[in-house]
Amino acid sequence: MILSIVAVLVYIISYTSAAAESESLANNRRSLYREYKNQLDASLEKLPSGSTLDDEELYNDYIKQLAGYCQVSYCLNDEGGLAELKDNEFVFPDKLVPYTPINYKEKYLDSSGHTNIRYNLTKLFDNVEEPGRIITHGGGEGYMLLDHKLRTINIVFRGTREFSQWYTNLHFKPGRYRPVMNSSEYWDQINYVHKNVLQENMAQNMEHHNYFDCSLSYAHAGFTYVARGMALQVHNELFKWLQEFPDYKVLVTGHSMGGALAQLTSLDLHILGIDNLMVSFNAPSVFSHTLAAAYNNLVDQSSNSAALRVYHFYDLVPRILPYSLYRHVGVPIVTFKRELPHAHTDFRVTSNSRLHGSSHEFEPADIDETTSFLAQGIKDYLKELWRRRPEILDPFYHRHLVVFFSACNDC
Ligand SMILES: *[C@@H]1O[C@H](CO)[C@@H](O)[C@H](O)[C@H]1NC(C)=O
Ligand SMILES: *[C@@H]1O[C@H](CO)[C@@H](O)[C@H](O)[C@H]1NC(C)=O
Repeated sequence: MILSIVAVLVYIISYTSAAAESESLANNRRSLYREYKNQLDASLEKLPSGSTLDDEELYNDYIKQLAGYCQVSYCLNDEGGLAELKDNEFVFPDKLVPYTPINYKEKYLDSSGHTNIRYNLTKLFDNVEEPGRIITHGGGEGYMLLDHKLRTINIVFRGTREFSQWYTNLHFKPGRYRPVMNSSEYWDQINYVHKNVLQENMAQNMEHHNYFDCSLSYAHAGFTYVARGMALQVHNELFKWLQEFPDYKVLVTGHSMGGALAQLTSLDLHILGIDNLMVSFNAPSVFSHTLAAAYNNLVDQSSNSAALRVYHFYDLVPRILPYSLYRHVGVPIVTFKRELPHAHTDFRVTSNSRLHGSSHEFEPADIDETTSFLAQGIKDYLKELWRRRPEILDPFYHRHLVVFFSACNDC
């Protein structure tokens, strides 16, 4: 185990140093670096305080249920199906079953006439008239699910299938956030009876929150690109369902990179005036401070919306991006417990999490410079982590949160 961590670490360090060809740090970069370092130090030293999560219903109906949906998202296959397709059937790996909150169990008669139990992923869609539609585009994948029992429309994004990709695929470049809906090309492709209402909402929100036309309004460029590529498909599907079930709650969720896509998608929906509940699991931060403030304002102004950020304190992913550039959103719900199962009482709700970042605003001067600077910063950070908290580099924490997130064929 230790050896594999060292291997990962060496890999990260060689990767980041290759990306970072900067010789001397300019003054502004130096102060950015200091801030980055301070934030990280602070977040390492102090465990966030807070009170125990006492809302069992919230935990079961939303956090656990949505974690289950995220878990299933790792079973999407390349043919656009859900799950590993074995003999044309969806089979959920037995090893994951003890950890899943969703009941896939069914009895069946095997070839010798014995009653057996098997786990049928299709059960997930039992109460769905139309199967969840798979969203696939340029690196992002997910599915949508109507739940007539809880009266919800669920948008579920998958993270990277290979968990190790996390350590090599970190493109943390910031890019200006421009809502994909702010163009006539977008609206030409939207079919929805209430299209005009959405357009008015958007105009109002973008004017009212003048955050958007501002150079400080940036987001993680890689995730933004992926989310944008999926937006039309997701929105059209959502509008179709909203037309039929206008009173259903819209839930947006994802684990890891999927959580990043959930945040970006949730923001788009808020700009259109569509209330939604966003729940992310061990997700990285994606919004600049300005954009995060815009997001929080939009959530606050809508009485039927909320955002929850569920994470493991020792997971690297939520803390890898510098807090001085990217800010988390959502009410932080954190656990320190290593092994599953996780009960609601294993979580704390914190409001003063250090992972929120500082309130200090600054403009990333030159994006290429910032990027190479960050590569250096992250390299130092990882070294420091290795020295002080090597457990944080253990991907275990990334995968064990509420449920066991695992690539479907990898257990
Ligand atoms: C799985 O469940 C679905 C829906 O309940 C059912 O139609 C299908 O036949 C089941 N698959 C197997 C292999 O039993
Ligand atoms: C929205 O579109 C208008 C017109 O093309 C443009 O001037 C404005 O900058 C856009 N705003 C954002 C935030 O992209």
